[in-house]
This record gives sequence, C-alpha cells and structure tokens, in this order.
Amino acid sequence: MLPRPKEFRDWAMNFRVEHHASSIKNVISSHRVAAFGNVNLTQYLKSRQQMIDRALDRFLPKENAAPPTIHKAMRYSLFAGGKRLRPILCLAAAEGCKGRVREALPLACAMECIHTYSLVHDDLPSMDNDDFRRGRATCHKVFGDGIAVLAGDALLTVAFQIAARAKPTRRYSMSEMFREISIAAGSRRLIAGQVADLEAEGKKVSRAELRYIHENKTAAMITTSVRLGAMSANTDPGKLRAITKFGYALGLAFQVIDDILDVTQTSEKLGKSAGKDIAAQKATYPAVIGLEASRAEARRLTNAAQNALKIFGKEAEPLRELANYLLAREY
Ligand code: IPE
Ligand code: IPE
Ligand code: MG
Ligand code: MG
Ligand code: MG
Repeated sequence: MLPRPKEFRDWAMNFRVEHHASSIKNVISSHRVAAFGNVNLTQYLKSRQQMIDRALDRFLPKENAAPPTIHKAMRYSLFAGGKRLRPILCLAAAEGCKGRVREALPLACAMECIHTYSLVHDDLPSMDNDDFRRGRATCHKVFGDGIAVLAGDALLTVAFQIAARAKPTRRYSMSEMFREISIAAGSRRLIAGQVADLEAEGKKVSRAELRYIHENKTAAMITTSVRLGAMSANTDPGKLRAITKFGYALGLAFQVIDDILDVTQTSEKLGKSAGKDIAAQKATYPAVIGLEASRAEARRLTNAAQNALKIFGKEAEPLRELANYLLAREY
C-alpha cells in the first residue's frame, strides 16, 4: 500500500465512505427530465457552461496576445468543449450553501484551468499518449510536445491569477483558499495520483492501491471544487465537512465511471479515445474488480455522496441532481 500523505488527515480522506444498503436505481434513468424548482437539468447545465465559458474567456489572455502560440494552445484545449463539471459543481456547492454563484465564479474557473492543464499533460506521448481529447486532436498533436507542455504550465499558473479575483469571507481567508487549491493540484494529490497511475501500468495492483490512484488523480480536484464553492459562501464547519464527504465520494465515483466508459463507450461518444486503458494495462476498476462490480461501486459511492447532503435543504437540489446525472452519464 502506498503511503498516505499527512494532508489526508486534514480533510477529504479523513472519513470512510459508508456502505448503505438503500439503492438509488430509480433516479438514474430519469436524469434527462430531472427538474429542481422550475429548472430542467439539461438547461441548467447549458446555462452554467455558458456562464463559465464567458468568464474563462474574459479571464484568459486573448488568442493574439504575445506570444500568440501559447495563448492559442491554451485556448485550443480550454475551449474544446469539456463538460465543465468541476466548475459547475463549485457553483452548485456555493448555491447549496446559500451563497452567490458570482462570488464562486473565479474559483470555479481556476479549477477548470487546472483540470484542463492536467488533461493536456495526461495526453502527452510520455504519459497516456492520446491523440484525441474533447472531440478534437490533442494539444501536442496540433502544437507539438514542447508547446503542449508549456500550455499546461501556463494553464496551471493562470489558475492562481484567476483565483486571486475571489474575495475572502468572514470564515475563510484568501490564503486558505490558495492553500486548498495548491494541495489539490500538488505532488501529494493530483500529481501523486498521476505518478501512481503511471507506475501501476502493466502491474497487478491491489484494491487499496487502485483507490489511492483514483482518490488522488481525480477525487481531490472534485472535492476541492465543491469545498471552494462552500468556502466562497462562508459556510459553517459542519456544512463544509458534509460538502467534503460529498465531493470525495462523488469524485471517486466519477473516476470509476470514467474507467467503465473507457470499456463500454466509443471514442466518438466520449470525444477521447476509448479502449486505451486495457491497451496500456492501466489500473482501473473494471480491470481490478470487473465491470459489474465497478458499476455497483459507482452506485454505492453516489449513494454515499447523496447521504452526505442530507443536512442541506432544497438549495442543494442541483448538487443532488448533478450526482445522479454523473452516475448515469454516457460520456
Ligand atoms: C476527464 O475528466 C479526466 C478524468 C478525471 C476522468 P472529464 O470527464 O471531466 O473531462 P472533460 O473536462 O469533460 O473533458
Ligand atoms: C485522468 O485519468 C486523470 C487526470 C488527472 C487527467 P485518465 O487518464 O483516465 O483520464 P482520461 O481517460 O485520459 O480522460
Ligand atoms: Mg491518465
Ligand atoms: Mg488519460
Ligand atoms: Mg480514463
């Protein structure tokens, strides 16, 4: 078993995802028509994606800003049509904590920039060697490896510039928010997961090692996205703990589902190359526990995420709907 960093005790990893007997199967197939208040989920996603895209466009250097190559490459990957899940969750968490979406927007956009950087680097020939991402050729295929490395570096760096637009709240200082982002993106979380992912290629991994990879490479960024939304709303410590549990369980479920989709979907549907995990002998849930058990695990984790939201009122309805939607997603 790989060592667990000290920060695990700080927050997300400080609890166990509980096993719940109850099932959520009824909610899954209905996500397309799901509604909360008067808002349809499809419309909600679209309007939030637009809000985030507009903000990112404002926050990022223009395409022709010098040197144009790097800004073109950054924008090429950022505006390629990602789902914007992390920023959407950040905004929904702010809403769930009775905060204003506007206050969370810079933090949401910062998380999307870091996520996009991680994809650009993840696709490099020296990592997962992928040609296809977000429905188009990968950054390095278009701009070359050197510029793709730099575009990733620049997206990671600009994230902190964008986050600096956020305001502190009574309970949470800017330095706390920056610390939060740095830890999630750093060598004990996102990078730790990516390192373990690479080192596990072609090896037999235990379930604990697999979980370590997923909680770091994916769940950490998703947990921090919802925590930042909650912090921007000046939420109380109890609600922040609940949001953390939610993000962590949802984040793990998200990567389990990503693993499943790599096996079950086409590249066309995913907008990225399917079937790569088996070819690269990656440590994935389907490879380690099988497809059906992976589906059950994703349901169990989503259920745990839903349970974490029990202390919230109707303002957390978007978060609940998003969790169901993500379980049922096909790309
Ligand atoms: C892909 O994330 C990488 C994983 C952590 C599984 P997404 O599935 O959120 O990718 P985009 O942002 O929609 O392209
Ligand atoms: C993604 O894991 C994790 C990142 C932090 C980028 P994957 O390697 O499974 O993501 P995809 O399938 O290429 O999007
Ligand atoms: Mg990878
Ligand atoms: Mg990959
Ligand atoms: Mg994958």
